[in-house]
Amino acid sequence: MGTFNITAFWLVLMLWLPHGLSMGNGQSNSNSNSCSASVLEARRFFELENELLRKRYHEKFLSVYTYNTNVTEENRQAMIEINARNAEFNKRLAQRIKASDYVQSEDADIRRQAEHLSKLGASALNPDDFLTLQNAISSMQTNYATVTVCSYTNRTDCTLTLEPHIEERLAHSRDPAELSWYWQQWYDKAGTPMRDHFAEYVRLTRKAAQLNDHRSYADYWLQFYEDADFERQLDATFKQLLPFYRQIHGYVRYRLRQHYGPDVMPAEGNIPISLLGNMWGQSWSEQLDLFTPYPEKPFVDVKAEMVRQNYTVEKLFELGDQFFQSLGMRALPPSFWNLSVLTRPEDRQVVCHASAWDFYQDSDVRIKMCTEVNNNYFYIVHHELGHIQYYLEYEQQPAVYRGAPNPGFHEAVGDVIALSVMSARHLKSIGLIENGRLDEKSRINQLFKQALTKIVFLPFGYTMDKYRHAVFRNELDESQWNCGFWQMRSEFGGVEPPVFRTEKDFDPPAKYHVDADVEYLRYFAAHIFQFQFHKALCTQAGQYAPNDSRLTLDNCDIFGSKVAGRSLSQFLSKGSSRHWKEVLQEFTGETEMDPAALLEYFDPLYQWLKQENSQLGVPLGWGPTNKISSDCCGTFST
Ligand SMILES: *[C@@H]1O[C@H](CO)[C@@H](O)[C@H](O)[C@H]1NC(C)=O
Ligand SMILES: *[C@@H]1O[C@H](CO)[C@@H](O)[C@H](O)[C@H]1NC(C)=O
Ligand SMILES: *[C@@H]1O[C@H](CO)[C@@H](O)[C@H](O)[C@H]1NC(C)=O
Ligand SMILES: *[C@@H]1O[C@H](CO)[C@@H](O)[C@H](O)[C@H]1NC(C)=O
Ligand SMILES: *[C@@H]1O[C@H](CO)[C@@H](O)[C@H](O)[C@H]1NC(C)=O
Ligand SMILES: [Zn+2]
Repeated sequence: MGTFNITAFWLVLMLWLPHGLSMGNGQSNSNSNSCSASVLEARRFFELENELLRKRYHEKFLSVYTYNTNVTEENRQAMIEINARNAEFNKRLAQRIKASDYVQSEDADIRRQAEHLSKLGASALNPDDFLTLQNAISSMQTNYATVTVCSYTNRTDCTLTLEPHIEERLAHSRDPAELSWYWQQWYDKAGTPMRDHFAEYVRLTRKAAQLNDHRSYADYWLQFYEDADFERQLDATFKQLLPFYRQIHGYVRYRLRQHYGPDVMPAEGNIPISLLGNMWGQSWSEQLDLFTPYPEKPFVDVKAEMVRQNYTVEKLFELGDQFFQSLGMRALPPSFWNLSVLTRPEDRQVVCHASAWDFYQDSDVRIKMCTEVNNNYFYIVHHELGHIQYYLEYEQQPAVYRGAPNPGFHEAVGDVIALSVMSARHLKSIGLIENGRLDEKSRINQLFKQALTKIVFLPFGYTMDKYRHAVFRNELDESQWNCGFWQMRSEFGGVEPPVFRTEKDFDPPAKYHVDADVEYLRYFAAHIFQFQFHKALCTQAGQYAPNDSRLTLDNCDIFGSKVAGRSLSQFLSKGSSRHWKEVLQEFTGETEMDPAALLEYFDPLYQWLKQENSQLGVPLGWGPTNKISSDCCGTFST
């Protein structure tokens, strides 16, 4: 017995030391000489459980990926079965952690692992409920992935998919009737028929939240930010950025009115989403040529140049890969290239919505998306590669820490790289534009284009979960689920559906993340954090200096900076092993989400818009939408 114990002791030391060392400064581990027997026992427990967890994740994500890249009933069933089995494992693990009281451990790292592995979410449900919930979610996903709509010009051709057909029409048609046609077809088919599934989803996630002692599923989502004050900070941040958004909104509405006339775009109303170039109005850059501040200035049109230079989809990914490598970070492994699905396969149904995957084994990371060669996908490629780089960087962490300490961080990594890639300086260096320093007017054009994705996104990102929180918390009656949705989108963003909507319609599931049960405030947070990260990296790379007109945030390119790369790598490699505020502080020196860097980046545009709108007498703001019944419900407050 004694001999066994000593052997076990050394075995434990050898097992935990390497990973203890990999966890940054080891701050969260107590000194080895103060290790009590119970801490050693706990470490061994988590070491073994993390390895089992890793294997389960591996198996799970293989089956989820198989379904996502080949949407069949058989693959859906296989995925649900594995998810159900994993839920039971997770539940039992949480029970054992509870029984051993690991959350009270004297060791901070043990407590952290115990807390994370005790967050059960839907796994807390009984097996029947869990299956019903999985069925509801995957049915919504299957519908989203397989919806096709009828062509506006040939109504008997009903084979058009969102990517690429509908997206292409929304981006390029200038006929309000055609735009409205595609908008309505999509919402009628991707949204409305999903109402019962969504209701089931709400019912069962509410039950899961109760089983986990959360007040609601909204509170379950919010706890991932590990900051009881985070929801209030999001509200405050949104309010702080609203004046800038109102300037953009007013200017765009004015230009739309000039183009389409007052019948299509009244002077002071909400903007019909269908006129904005994107199905959800979350990015308005596809209809950019209608609003360009200085149309006479040559615009940074990289799509035309990409086409001229015969860019392929692979080339877009290679450029992203080279960017990370230039920072001294990891190259995409060979398996990425042969196992990813980078274009839409012809022989089967797939979930085209872009996503990045970690298979928790042998650096197996992949992307699944239906890429086309254009500006928007050029950005999305970098966004997804940011997830991939995060996966690779925290690969050595135990499974429980293979994630971001703040959900917003994961969504911000690729966007930060894209901020450099989209700078004039960088586009010139890769031969996509001729001039790497923009004159004042071209700079306003360029900033405006960025604002049409980055700033315009904020009310959208904010509303998606403000809405779902209200549903989860039962603050919005089920009889008002649809009008409440549009009331919020109108109130927070000044946009509305192009046609009247009632409770016979149900529009929220027309957005992928609603079907797929993906929390959305992470994207809002990421849009703030990415500018903080950008400023930190640009400073470290020597590409940004306050008050230096040659080194501004909007024309910073960190390409090739090993210093910035090392800093980013250190930030990412910690995974979720420590609280996000500590990790953020080591990376940027800040401890809070703060829109100051974003506002600095866009300041020249903000000043220009205020002046221009005032000179043109452009009205700002909007009232309630008249596209829903006026007795819908009260107003919402941030
Ligand atoms: C898609 O999945 C089905 C099983 O449902 C399988 O028979 C088929 O071979 C798969 N297709 C591809 C291309 O993998
Ligand atoms: C309209 O679509 C149908 C079905 O795809 C096709 O058979 C027909 O040729 C199309 N008509 C025109 C005028 O393109
Ligand atoms: C692009 O492809 C076309 C047709 O294959 C070819 O003529 C042209 O030279 C190519 N352009 C470049 C920049 O490679
Ligand atoms: C993909 O690449 C990996 C790593 O090079 C290799 O082991 C594997 O056999 C390849 N798989 C396929 C399907 O080509
Ligand atoms: C930059 O300029 C602002 C105002 O012009 C000034 O307050 C600030 O101290 C300057 N910062 C640096 C680093 O020079
Ligand atoms: Zn993402």
